[in-house]
Amino acid sequence: MTDTEIKKGLAGVTVDYTAISKVNPDTNSLLYRGYPVHELAATQPFEAVAYLLWHGELPSETQLAQLRATERERRALTDDVKAAIDLLPVEAHPMDEVRTAVSVIGAADLAGIGNVMDAVGTPEENLDRSIRLFAALPAIVAYGQRRRRGQDAVAARDDLDYAANFLWMTFGEEADPVVVDAFNRSMILYAEHSFNASTFTARVIASTLSDLYSAVTGAVGALKGPLHGGANEAVLHIFDEIGSADRVTTWLDDALARKRKIMGFGHRVYKRGDSRVPTMKAALDSLVAHYDRPDVLALYDALESEFVGRKGIYPNLDYPSGPAYNLIGFDTLTFTPLFVAARITGWTAHIMEQQASNALIRPLSAYNGSDERHIEGYVPDSATA
Ligand code: CMC
Repeated sequence: MTDTEIKKGLAGVTVDYTAISKVNPDTNSLLYRGYPVHELAATQPFEAVAYLLWHGELPSETQLAQLRATERERRALTDDVKAAIDLLPVEAHPMDEVRTAVSVIGAADLAGIGNVMDAVGTPEENLDRSIRLFAALPAIVAYGQRRRRGQDAVAARDDLDYAANFLWMTFGEEADPVVVDAFNRSMILYAEHSFNASTFTARVIASTLSDLYSAVTGAVGALKGPLHGGANEAVLHIFDEIGSADRVTTWLDDALARKRKIMGFGHRVYKRGDSRVPTMKAALDSLVAHYDRPDVLALYDALESEFVGRKGIYPNLDYPSGPAYNLIGFDTLTFTPLFVAARITGWTAHIMEQQASNALIRPLSAYNGSDERHIEGYVPDSATA
């Protein structure tokens, strides 16, 4: 095999079909089940988009009401999950908390299923498991932030929709409709993005006929990395480092001289701009106006125009979502867990799609290690010399 046949990072390799979303970098569009994501973000509650990703169609009023009722019933932070989180050091990264919590929910739910062959579940069971995680994650993410601040958990409210309740559980007060709307949009934009690294991880695990919870746990691990979901957290670290718009040029000179990656810019698929950015930037604009923070926008615009001007590399979704979450009041460490709460919908849709027409994902590798050799030539004393 020659080097040209190996696609490092699977760049440009199409590995399977999906009917869940279509990313088109040429037209700068992203469709969920055929619907442009910006239309969904402008008109739908996140619950309806979750339904769309799982079922392929937007819900009727009755279907949406049913999903909402189930989601509200399962919102509470359960004692076992809280106890497991409390066992972790308070300094633990919240993505480690989320990964642990998903594992605990899975172990409890699958406790009666002793046979590994049965854990994979039926489509109905897996839809139920998907809704369980979708409903449980906001309380887990909210409690993580509160725990780090030395605050108690806030009980869920069943008179609020998903986005408003998420903010309620995090901050213990009802959020302004402008904030709820911006947050709802961000959840929709983060919900799904075809075969990104974490979704592909989930599909690899699902392809072994492992259970949905194991696949999601692996996906959380993949999302944690700063080249993927961790970038929204990293954007805020950069904003903190720069401080204000007038320091952008000096900071960028230094960062580029040291060949640093500028977090929140660039994308493996989009090379001329991320289709989700305009919608999230509009949500950020509404938050900047609501909180009267023009300084945030000044820094955002200055870094974007200077970096795009110098490198021709455009912002991705994490660039506007980082400062938006910061304005809402989320700790920087909570940003990637918010991505989990959104992407759980896409991950689980993909796990179910993988299982519906499964083939074990098992690629080949080209060996470039030692030629064949034999043990009689091995001398322990010289092994590490
Ligand atoms: N800052 C500085 N240089 C960059 C950046 C960046 N953000 N992104 C790409 N480049 C340069 C890179 O150094 C390389 O230059 P050269 O050819 O001179 O070595 C060239 O552009 C190609 O970059 P690459 O990393 O090989 O390309 P890729 O397709 O593997 O990169 C990426 C995609 C997202 C890993 C990369 O753009 C990156 O590291 N961005 C910063 C992290 C980030 O924002 N990640 C979030 C991605 S979108 C949300 C998500 O899916 O989770």
